[in-house]
Amino acid sequence: MPGVLKLWETSPSGLDPRVDAFLSSLTVDSRLLEVDLRGSAAHAAMLGVSGIIPESNAKALTDALAAMLAEARSGALKPDASAEDVHSFIEQELTRRLGDTGKMVHAGRSRNDQVALDMRLYLRSSFGEAVDGIRDVLGALCDLASANVETWMPSYTHMRRAQPSTLAFHLLAWCAALERDMGRFADAAARADECPLGSAAVAGSGLPLDREAVAKALGFARPSRNAMDATADRDACVEYAAAASTLLMHLSRYCEEIILWSSAEFGFMDIKDSCSTGSSIMPQKRNPDVAELIRGKTGRVFGSLVSLLTMQKGLPLGYDRDLQEDKVAVFDLRDTLAGVLPAFAALVEALVPKPAAMAAALESGHPEATDLAELLVVKGVPFRDGYAATKSAVAVATAAGVRLASLGDADLARASDAFAKAGIKAADLAAYLVPAGCVARRNLIGGPAPQRVREELTRLYSLVEVSGLKR
Ligand code: ARG
Repeated sequence: MPGVLKLWETSPSGLDPRVDAFLSSLTVDSRLLEVDLRGSAAHAAMLGVSGIIPESNAKALTDALAAMLAEARSGALKPDASAEDVHSFIEQELTRRLGDTGKMVHAGRSRNDQVALDMRLYLRSSFGEAVDGIRDVLGALCDLASANVETWMPSYTHMRRAQPSTLAFHLLAWCAALERDMGRFADAAARADECPLGSAAVAGSGLPLDREAVAKALGFARPSRNAMDATADRDACVEYAAAASTLLMHLSRYCEEIILWSSAEFGFMDIKDSCSTGSSIMPQKRNPDVAELIRGKTGRVFGSLVSLLTMQKGLPLGYDRDLQEDKVAVFDLRDTLAGVLPAFAALVEALVPKPAAMAAALESGHPEATDLAELLVVKGVPFRDGYAATKSAVAVATAAGVRLASLGDADLARASDAFAKAGIKAADLAAYLVPAGCVARRNLIGGPAPQRVREELTRLYSLVEVSGLKR
């Protein structure tokens, strides 16, 4: 807007309007209004306490900033579109409200450390929000798993039936990865827990700023350790994007499984109408759109990570304007996670398992074959010999169109003499090879046995209950 000088102008510079529009970041960074006001208030208060500006001016600044924060929260304070960025808007607004006092706020500060601080504060709540969102997903998964500890189904490798397992065990596999995802956000939050303010443009300030006090006032563990790094670094953005990418990579796998399981071809579960959609032309259809859209958004999340990495590749230190592009990526990531995590929790809550269909999938393909081979090991047969004998038994059973548990003594003898030598009778196999027995025997740490799964559920429930990250 003509007449409004940039912070760095003392007289109109005649910036080409096309360049002016190109450089402006206000439409994007106005989202930092609240965090910038909080950071500005901590800085202004410190300027007064340190004697850099008179206490009365510092008080006027903090009062005005507090009023502006309240107005920002109520929606009454809207950044003026003519400002170059949100930082400029705040100083211009302070000067409009307080006259010369407003012009004191930027002592010992640059927009470079200001925007670095804003992103730290913004990311702090973003990390916390992600952790909370994952926690809600874990809670939903634990509830579904608790109800399905003895819902027998095949486990798969290479997308082929492998060994008898349970739905709860499969869901706990999802939880194991999601717990790591939660840890990734928490770890990144801990590393980002440093206050850049006082770094100024690149090489600090000669004014007697109290960096410790500002860091403490804003709830940081400590001030950042190098002014040049603090203003040029966007690692916290990258780590947020990397954690989000890993999370979405996981969720897209689980969504794919849900899509398969809820298909007519699998028929393992239904998705309630609250979480599925219809077709505009085919009256009979219900579609798993929630799962598909989460899978689809994964690409955009990976894109943000790549964009943040590429933006910084080869950038000389300290600050370069390229870094302004961090916001588009981080804000989009936060919006995406804010949509995806509650939607995935809702999807989990809307799953209606069909235990009979899952159990039926154990009736063909001999997923209990490994159990038979291990029975031979228990009877003293070397595993490779037990494997070969079982493989023959599988061939005999397949030819006869029956399960291993239904083979007679003559069938076993035809398959291999190892069974008779080991003292294994066909009559023993029926009870030994039922899915419940196969699963219960795999009761090692990390196994699918109901007892193990219940222990793991207890641990996960207590994890879900612990409080979240600081905001
Ligand atoms: N809009 C800028 C950004 O987001 C703020 C910092 C501007 N600093 C500068 N020296 N031009 O990166």
